[in-house]
Amino acid sequence: MVLRSCGAAVPDKVLTNEDLSARLDTSDKWITERTGIRERRIGGTASSLAIDAGRQALERAGLTGADIDVVIVATATGDAVTPSTAAIVQDALGTAGAAFDLNAACSGFVYGLVVAAGLIATGSGRILLVGSEVLSRITDWDDRTMAVLVGDGAGAVVLEPAEGEGNLLSANLNGDGSLRQLLTCDHGGYLAMDGREIFRRAIRVVVESAERALGDAGIRAQDVALFVPHQANLRIITAAGQRLGIPIERTAVVIDRYGNTSSASIPLALEEAARMGRVHEGDLVLLSGFGGGMTWASALLRWGP
Ligand code: ACO
Repeated sequence: MVLRSCGAAVPDKVLTNEDLSARLDTSDKWITERTGIRERRIGGTASSLAIDAGRQALERAGLTGADIDVVIVATATGDAVTPSTAAIVQDALGTAGAAFDLNAACSGFVYGLVVAAGLIATGSGRILLVGSEVLSRITDWDDRTMAVLVGDGAGAVVLEPAEGEGNLLSANLNGDGSLRQLLTCDHGGYLAMDGREIFRRAIRVVVESAERALGDAGIRAQDVALFVPHQANLRIITAAGQRLGIPIERTAVVIDRYGNTSSASIPLALEEAARMGRVHEGDLVLLSGFGGGMTWASALLRWGP
C-alpha cells in the first residue's frame, strides 16, 4: 500500500483562548501553559469537512471520485446514526464501491490506515481514508474542562495498491475496554472525561505502541524523520517524544491552532508537514494515537515520492 496524497479542511471560524476566557472561568495563560492550545476552529459537519479534505486529497493525486473504490471515514461525531458519514462523502465525491464509518475515537485514523492496508492486501483498489470530527457538537460550552480542549477539522489520504514493500512498514492497534469510563459521551449528551488519568495513561501507551511499531520494523527512534502524534495536549506530545528520544523539532504540532480534533488530528498534522516540505522521499514517519475506549495505535510509514 502506498500513500499517494494528503488533504485537509478546517472551518473558517476561529475561537481563541481570549474568546473562551470572556465567557468561562479560564484564561489564555492557563490554557496555553496546560495544553499548548491557543485557538481552535469551530463549525461545519463531519461530512462537509470530510468532503472538502477528501476532494483536496483527490485533486492533489490527480484523481476523481470515480478512481476510488472504498471510502472510510474515521469519526465519533458523524452527521447521523445512519446514513454513515462515508455514504454522504461517497455521494458528494462520486466514488464507487464501498463506504463506511469507523469509530475508534482519537485513534480512528491509525485504525483506518490498518483497515485500509488489510483491504488492499485482499484485493481492494484505491481507498480514500478521512478522519473528520466536529467535537464542538458534543461539547458543553459551559464546561471549562472540555470546552478549552476541542476543535473541528478533517484530514484525508488517498491510499492505493503497490508493488513491493509499500509505505506501511509496521503497525499495531490496541485497546482496553475496561477503561471506557475515562472518556464518555452518551447519545445526545456531552463529552466527559477523567483528564488526569487519561493524561497519565496516554504518555505510557503512546510510548509503548510507538516503540513496538519501531521494533517490529527494526527501526531506531533516532532514525525517525517525523513523529506525528495525536494532538490532545502539548505536554503529552513533548513527554512522549522525550521518552521515545524524538525531539520536538522532529515532531508535527498543530494543536496550538486546532486544539484536539480527535481522529482528524493526525491527518491534519501529517498534511501540514507534507505541504511544508517537512517529509521527503524515504523518510520514516511515525504516527501514534490514543483516545476513548481506551484505544491506542501506532504506524510506521516510509514516505513515498
Ligand atoms: N481553566 C482554568 N482552570 C482549570 C481549567 C480551565 N479550563 N480546567 C481545570 N482547571 C483547574 C482545575 O479545576 C484545577 O484546579 P484546582 O487545582 O483548584 O483543583 C486545576 O486547574 C488543575 O486541574 P487538572 O485537571 O489537574 O489540570 P491538568 O494539568 O491535569 O490539565 C487537562 C487538565 C488539560 C485536561 C489534562 O489533564 C489533559 O490534557 N488530559 C488529557 C486529555 C485527553 O487527552 N483527553 C483524551 C482526548 S479528549 C477527546 O477525545 C475529545
